[in-house]
Amino acid sequence: MTTTISPLIAGNWKMNGTRASLDELSSLATMLTTGAAPRAIVVICPPATMVAAAARQGATSGILVGGQDCHTEGSGAHTGDIAAGMLADAGAQYVIVGHSERRADHGETDDQVRRKAMAAIGAGLKPIICVGETEGQRDAGEAEAVVKEQLAGSVPDAAENHEVNIAYEPIWAIGTGRTPTSEEIAAMHAAIRNSLVERFGERGMDIRILYGGSLKPQNAREILSVENVNGGLVGGASLLANDFYTIISAV
Ligand code: PGA
Repeated sequence: MTTTISPLIAGNWKMNGTRASLDELSSLATMLTTGAAPRAIVVICPPATMVAAAARQGATSGILVGGQDCHTEGSGAHTGDIAAGMLADAGAQYVIVGHSERRADHGETDDQVRRKAMAAIGAGLKPIICVGETEGQRDAGEAEAVVKEQLAGSVPDAAENHEVNIAYEPIWAIGTGRTPTSEEIAAMHAAIRNSLVERFGERGMDIRILYGGSLKPQNAREILSVENVNGGLVGGASLLANDFYTIISAV
């Protein structure tokens, strides 16, 4: 892990969780406040219905909260959507944009993802911008080209002077239990770092690059120690406080 960047571990609860899940959050809070101080910024991204409650509960234990998506616009006639400012108002500090499940389920394009990231920044949130290739693209040797194109289209120019986080999530590793090798992760994270530096100069050295996709207690230590891996975006393993705490402790 690059030492100058403070690591961040974010849990993406996806479409899982009701008020009862706040118990899991309080178990995590207990672990974080009674055990050794975490060496990472800890963020939980629950469903939007729970952002306010999670933010209230997390406040005492240092657990920060993020949304899982936001709209490109600040308000208006967009039934069912949530504006970045609403997430901020509910206590969120981060928001995931361009997760591959949103790109697949809702046809989100790089341009939309970039505008969502801009909306997030405009509302004072720190976007976590997701990129990643399909298995077919990796097999065809196109993984780096695909990810570079996604970065070029999804990362706003405002990353020059606002915090943005990149999450590299190979789609074939999400929820499958399969992960790339450490060498493959190192190569992709180096490629991402290079394209950030090419575009933003020195500033590109400070942008956090998270790894996501079947990150779990068993592989966290190895993956999180790979060069240019500045933390993780954790799906399934963030739902259980014990597992998530083990991943946080692996930093
Ligand atoms: P997973 O999901 O950890 O369950 O593979 C990661 C993600 O989609 O962010």
